[in-house]
Amino acid sequence: MIDIKKIRKDFPMYQNVPTMSNHSLVYFDNAATTFKPQQVIDAADEYYKFFCANSHRGDYEIAHTVDVKYEAARARVAKFINAETNEIAFTAGASMSLNSIAYGLAPILKENDEILLSEAEHASNVLPWFSVAEQRHAKITYINLTSEGRLTLENLKKAITPRTKIISLAQVTNVLGYVVDVKSFAKVAHEHGCLFVVDGAQSVPHMKVDVKDLDCDFLAFSGHKMLGPTGIGVMYGKYELLKKMKPLMSGGGMSSRFDTCGDVAYRIPPIKFEAGTQNLSGALGLAAACDYLDNIGMDNIRNHENELRKLMITGLKKLPNVKIYNEKAESGIVTFNIDKVFAQDAASYLSYKGIAVRSGNHCAQILLSFLGADATVRASLYLYNTKEDVQQFVEACASCGEGGNFLDAFFN
Ligand code: ALA
Repeated sequence: MIDIKKIRKDFPMYQNVPTMSNHSLVYFDNAATTFKPQQVIDAADEYYKFFCANSHRGDYEIAHTVDVKYEAARARVAKFINAETNEIAFTAGASMSLNSIAYGLAPILKENDEILLSEAEHASNVLPWFSVAEQRHAKITYINLTSEGRLTLENLKKAITPRTKIISLAQVTNVLGYVVDVKSFAKVAHEHGCLFVVDGAQSVPHMKVDVKDLDCDFLAFSGHKMLGPTGIGVMYGKYELLKKMKPLMSGGGMSSRFDTCGDVAYRIPPIKFEAGTQNLSGALGLAAACDYLDNIGMDNIRNHENELRKLMITGLKKLPNVKIYNEKAESGIVTFNIDKVFAQDAASYLSYKGIAVRSGNHCAQILLSFLGADATVRASLYLYNTKEDVQQFVEACASCGEGGNFLDAFFN
């Protein structure tokens, strides 16, 4: 069980911004970013107040302190996904992680080799692969989605060819919120000799993710979607693969030596992937976010979101003016449109009712044509949301556009 009242006290946003447009604030844009608890803010702040030095460069005491704290943060975050400490590199976020993976794997691709994606991926798991495919004269192919928009093992098997070298998929897609059985997908990928990359941006914050159990080759995720600071993320890779992979970025701190002829010796992973001064404060904040989430328990968080989701779907289904696109999804993402109201207008209307949601194509342009919609509205839940939030939201949707008030039966 989650004690929401206690949790809310940890989040300064709820104290500082209790209302929006004179209504109680309902924050349902958690798939875009999340609020941060005081514990995370304090951990990130501590760096600037108590050991503000660069890492892996200084020989004085404060520099040693920051080295110890930064490497402890790495170990903490690695534990969160059951990785080895030397298998995770800090990045600026999931997008940078996916770029590092895509460009790092580019050399394995030969002309006409295939990179297999799905039409449900968001831009950060599509655009880097487009660039790499162009560079290597390789091809992008897609797994067919079911009519509901899901990825199935059967369709994965149909889409793999002898030329498929890399498969890259989101564990939870950012618009439809379906949970992909990445463990089984990884098994099939490996049986076909493919590398399997998981975009965990929408899964790691909401469910237990164990890279050893999933047996994925790479995993990317962001700190800011899991209560952590912005500008920090993680690239996980199996150590043997990281050892062989070229870093996307080069610069200070990641090489052990170089000479005038251009010969460079990289340091060993994960430092090889961390060129330049790192987001030290962000790493400490992310480690504190992992502590915070583990203290509540990832299973408790998932159950809480599922409970709220059920309530939301039940409420929205009673509204004849609402079309839901992912009624059966297993995550806290609910995507919908309101009859005769453009998605962005609906989002503005909801804002006027105190509710923050995202509207538009959600950086998943290909999926929107699959759904036959120019834009949708997305409500995304997290651990601090309440039944009252859902009630306020459903009531606002009911009064949007031509909807009537069909809620009495539901809430009374
Ligand atoms: N990818 C993020 C989202 O889905 C930004 O909103």
